Order: sequence, then C-alpha cells, then structure tokens
Amino acid sequence: MLYFDHGATSYPKPKNVIAGMIRALEDFCANPGRAGHQSALQASREIYDAREVVAGFFNIKDPKQLIFTLNCTEALNLGIKGVLKSGDHVITTSMEHNSVLRPIKALEKEGVENTIIQCNKDGSLPLEKVDQSIQENTRLIVLTHSSNLTGTLMPIAEVGKIARERGILFLVDAAQTAGLYPIDVEKMYIDLLAAPGHKSLLGPQGSGFLYIKEGLYLKTLKEGGTGSKSQDFVQPDILPDRYESGTPNTPGIIGLKEGIQYIQQQGRENLLRHEESLVKYFLQEVSKLDYIEVYGPKDCKKQSPVVALNFRGMDSSEIAYILDSVFNIAVRPGLHCAPLAHKTIGTLEQGAVRFSFGYSTTMEEVAKGIEAIKTIGSEL
Ligand SMILES: Cc1ncc(COP(=O)(O)O)c(C=O)c1O
Repeated sequence: MLYFDHGATSYPKPKNVIAGMIRALEDFCANPGRAGHQSALQASREIYDAREVVAGFFNIKDPKQLIFTLNCTEALNLGIKGVLKSGDHVITTSMEHNSVLRPIKALEKEGVENTIIQCNKDGSLPLEKVDQSIQENTRLIVLTHSSNLTGTLMPIAEVGKIARERGILFLVDAAQTAGLYPIDVEKMYIDLLAAPGHKSLLGPQGSGFLYIKEGLYLKTLKEGGTGSKSQDFVQPDILPDRYESGTPNTPGIIGLKEGIQYIQQQGRENLLRHEESLVKYFLQEVSKLDYIEVYGPKDCKKQSPVVALNFRGMDSSEIAYILDSVFNIAVRPGLHCAPLAHKTIGTLEQGAVRFSFGYSTTMEEVAKGIEAIKTIGSEL
C-alpha cells in the first residue's frame, strides 16, 4: 500500500517506537503512581522521563505542566472548556478542525460568545482581523498551527504576541505540525499547546498532550483517582495529577517518547526538508494537469505536508475509492472534520481528496501517486 494519510495518523511507526511499547508491556506495565512496588516505581520513573523528553522538545521549562491525554481532541477540550466560562469571548478561525469548533459551539449554550475569523481562500489568516475581533471580554484565542485540509501554516508567533500584549490566553492546536515544525512555547507566546502523539510525533494512537502555562488554573474535565491525596474527596491541585485522573496509557506514553527520540536522531529539520521536497514535487506535477484543481497555498514553504485537490466535477470519495481499490493508495476524501475550512475553499459539497505525506514517504511513492492520478485522468 502507498500510505498518503499521514495527516490522519503516521504509519508505519518507527521500529524503536514499537520496541519501546513492547518493553513497557513486558517489563514495567504496572500502575504508575499507585503502589510502591518496584514495577510501579519503574513505570512512574519511565513516565516522568517521557514527560521530560516531550517537554524539552517544545521548550516547556517544567515537565509537570505537561498533561498526557488520549489524543489532541481531549487536549483541546481540556484547554477550551477548562479556560472559558459564561460571559467570556473566544476567537478562532474558519480553518479549524471540529475538535476546536465543536467545544466552542457547545460552550455557546453556557453563555460563551465566539468570533470565527473568516480566512482567505488559500486558508491563510488575515492577521488584522485578529486585532479587530478582540472584545473587552475576550479570554482566549484558539488557532491551528496548520490547516489539516490545505496545510496552510498560520502565523502563530505573531498571533501569540498580539494575545500576550492584550492579556488574552493563546491556545495552539499543533495537530498537523508537532514533531515537524519548530514550536517553542516561550518564544511563540503559547499559553496552552495541544498536540496528538500519533501524527508527526510518530507515537502511537491513544497518545497526546496539553501544555498548560505555569500559574494557569483550568477547570477539570474529569476527576478521579490520581494516587495522591487519596483521603480528600476534592481533586488535588498538584500537577500533573489534577488533570490526569485514572490509569495512564503507559505503553503509549513510552511510544510517544520514542517517537520524539526518533525525530531527534534523524534531525527534525532533515525530516521537514524531506517532506517539503515531496510536497514541492507533488505540487509541481499535479499543477500541470488541467483536470485537477489544487487548493491551499501551493507552496511547500507555506504549507505542511498535506495537499488537497479535486478532479474537476468528480466526487472526492469516488476518486479516493478508485485510488484505494485499483492502485492500493490510501488518501482521505470528504470533509476532514473541518466543514468551515471546506466552506472557505469552496468544497463543502464536493469534499476534497487529501494527500498527506510523512517521514516514511519516499519520492518514488509520490511519483507512483502522480502516475495513478494521471491514469485516472486519462480514463475519465
Ligand atoms: C488540525 C487538527 N486538530 C485536531 C485534530 C484531532 O486530533 P486527534 O485525532 O488526535 O484527536 C486533528 C486530527 O486530524 C487535526 O488535524
């Protein structure tokens, strides 16, 4: 199979990720932070070590400010619902994923106002609209680092600066960029950073995290056993316990750490350069085909390694079905959980065929993908 669905989840995972998870399952898969026996203590130490590795990668000074979650959706829900209360106002954009839009829409019922900034047709953010949307009660700005539809990279440092200057919290959805693009929570004025472990961080599904700036106190999404202050019926205040109730995904967290170590061994910049070159080649070739419409910036420096396109007049699901069944090529059609992004680029009806590349994608594979597109084009 040619796997061009890294935007959904990276596959296959590096060997050391798999080995790390097996090691966790075989050697120390006791319940961390609970019992005092050796295996439980080792699990705690290994998780702490993983927390340090993940935190270091994003320049998070105190690893305890990093909360492990099930995925990016859970991290975004905690960030959004943990911060906002009745009477607050939140700003976001039309390029967001439903994991941002739905929590924000759900909060309307609780009296939280929102402004959704309309982005340009290539998915880019009109920066002046951020400033213009700020109200007296604006408490939070939520912005994706890159659209999962068009790949459009957003100016997070610039928006972070505006937010910081205006005393507004800034939450970044790094689902499409964490692991590949430089993210420094200090330099980019990020107060909350949500990321999945299973995309470009190369960890397994069921992993993710939310970074919470020191001193920021969120409402909890869940309460329960933490292994600390067990005599109290109230959720402990200490971090990460406050937000990490229940048995953690120990093998998943170890896999996430291994994913980051793989990136560090390869060099994040090298992986980025490789993926940029794949996008550049792909864009160059598909742009020559007059029956193909390509969306987004059409520039490998302005987009993460996803390219959305359509065969003019053809349903995106039909094309994806042909790619899968005839050519054994995995892509993602439809709406990509981002209806407003599709509305922005004008594909709400047709959907789009998303090709997304990753660390393991080769130039030869991309060439085969292009050949398949040409074959379909010649037969339609
Ligand atoms: C931009 C964006 N945000 C959030 C998510 C949700 O991530 P997860 O599936 O890890 O919950 C995705 C998933 O594709 C995404 O692309």
